[in-house]
Amino acid sequence: MDAPYRIRSAVPADAEAFFAIERRSFSDPWSEASFREALGSPWTFGIAAQGKRGVAGYLIAREVAGTGEVLNLAVAPEFRRRGVGGALLRAGLTALRHRRVEEVFLEVRESNRSAQSLYASHGFRPVGQRAAYYRNPKEDALVLRLALERPA
Ligand SMILES: CC(C)(COP(=O)(O)OP(=O)(O)OC[C@H]1O[C@@H](n2cnc3c(N)ncnc32)[C@H](O)[C@@H]1OP(=O)(O)O)[C@@H](O)C(=O)NCCC(=O)NCCS
Repeated sequence: MDAPYRIRSAVPADAEAFFAIERRSFSDPWSEASFREALGSPWTFGIAAQGKRGVAGYLIAREVAGTGEVLNLAVAPEFRRRGVGGALLRAGLTALRHRRVEEVFLEVRESNRSAQSLYASHGFRPVGQRAAYYRNPKEDALVLRLALERPA
């Protein structure tokens, strides 16, 4: 069966749809303006999972001097556990590889076991911790790292 969504590059006009999912996914959401800024910047990029009736999920990442960072990832609650998050992560890592990134970092809440298992299944490993990194509620972040192979 075909996936009920397709993976595509995001554009600034996606900010509103991303923000609608963001608000349902996080207790300390990014603002819509943050999405618009990230999607309009040459240093960051976004990937959307486009469903038939709208956006099912998104990933925002950036590359700085050979290092990649996954800044945000969320899937609308009704689309979870269907492989959308994994597809977005794979597409984000491919895009970073093509930007000659050799390692990727990200932060995740210590209590966010579902995201941690998604990242672990893609090879991310814990390399550190940032105390009180998150607000609402205040919580430490785990810092995860993945070494990327060069594209063939
Ligand atoms: C984390 C998130 C993006 C995963 O998206 P998803 O589309 O459900 O992920 P997938 O269906 O691709 O799942 C891939 C794997 O992740 C793990 N996983 C995802 N959700 C899980 C859950 N609720 N419990 C345990 N493991 C989970 C599993 O290993 C899963 O593989 P499986 O379904 O074969 O067991 C989604 O749950 C989400 O948007 N959460 C809220 C926002 C968030 O926490 N973002 C990450 C911030 S760092």
